[in-house]
Amino acid sequence: MEHIRGSGKIDYLSAVVIHFYWNDKSRCVDEMLILGIDTSCDDTAAAVVENGTTIISNVVSNQDAIHMKYGGIVPELASRKHVELITPVVNEALTNAKAGLRDIDAIAVTHGPGLIGSLLVGVCFAKSLSYVHGIPILAINHLEGHICSYNLESKPDFPFLALVVSGGHTSIYKVTDTGNYQELGRTRDDAAGEAYDKVAKLLGYQYPGGPIIDELAAQGDPEAVKFPRSFLRDCYDFSFSGLKTAVLNYVRKNPHASKEDIAAGFQAAVIDVLVGRSIEVAQKHGINRIALSGGVSANKGLRNAMKDKASEAGIELFLPSVNLCTDNAAMIASAGYYHRLDGETASFDLNPKACLPLGSANG
Ligand code: KG4
Ligand code: ZN
Repeated sequence: MEHIRGSGKIDYLSAVVIHFYWNDKSRCVDEMLILGIDTSCDDTAAAVVENGTTIISNVVSNQDAIHMKYGGIVPELASRKHVELITPVVNEALTNAKAGLRDIDAIAVTHGPGLIGSLLVGVCFAKSLSYVHGIPILAINHLEGHICSYNLESKPDFPFLALVVSGGHTSIYKVTDTGNYQELGRTRDDAAGEAYDKVAKLLGYQYPGGPIIDELAAQGDPEAVKFPRSFLRDCYDFSFSGLKTAVLNYVRKNPHASKEDIAAGFQAAVIDVLVGRSIEVAQKHGINRIALSGGVSANKGLRNAMKDKASEAGIELFLPSVNLCTDNAAMIASAGYYHRLDGETASFDLNPKACLPLGSANG
């Protein structure tokens, strides 16, 4: 079992260590400092967050330079780089926060979903710190982390719809309380960010493709090439692989077509589906708040279209700052704070999981 509620299952020695550790603090006990660690994909990230809401430090070291020439993330290279970076990144987060490990109340670490080799580095590192320094460890779902990025800025009231759009996931959740997530739809094939990265690659650009397509699209005509929009029937699931294949076929038949127009046409199709579906789900469920998160929510076209359509529909929209859209550990520390308030602690047999669903399925 990975989560243990309360202190009942903490062994005696750990309990003694934690007791002395907690009593040794000179800080006000109302402040809870969480060290967040995320190594779910290709970013090595560590952050210190106070009371789940205030970022004290936030360090992200990305590996774009390593993976860009391959057109995507090479898992083995990613995990090796995490091994190299995890110590300096965590040290930098603590130094920037002017904190030592004795000031940290708990370590929140992403244990899934993600690349298994990458996750393993963060989880092992967090467990080692926890063991040596007697600091409780909290196991956090990366997707919950993305949703919790709102706690660090302006938090929506409940209930709200969370659209998580990243390189590995495209899912829509009904959030009725902190920690209460119901997945209403998810992608059946490619994630939106994955489609961006693959389309960029076939247009001859390097990884990560999302920001490049975003820039190209702003210079192209979204009406010049009409790509298919996939609205699956009788469910709120997404599908982006057909769109990606349509772009591939178009590029093969029209090798000299404007890349700006192709990017604009592709982006318009992605945005129509993401925005259209989110508004439809919100209206069907009688929810008037939508919160975007994940790397693709940094997309300028998506943010603008969401603003327009949400305002037309009388829906309140929450968009994270661009630096909190992509992977970071502040969001993991924030999620960890709520787990800690619930009295959760993970045990030392915590293992990473490449597939880790969030909340209950389909409603
Ligand atoms: O959330 P994230 O950092 O990592 C995952 O959890 O997957 O998301 C990374 C994804 C990549 O696919 C990247 O191309 C995409 O987010 N992305 C964007 C933009 N910025 C990052 N996609 C579209 N437009 C952007 N501006
Ligand atoms: Zn992510």
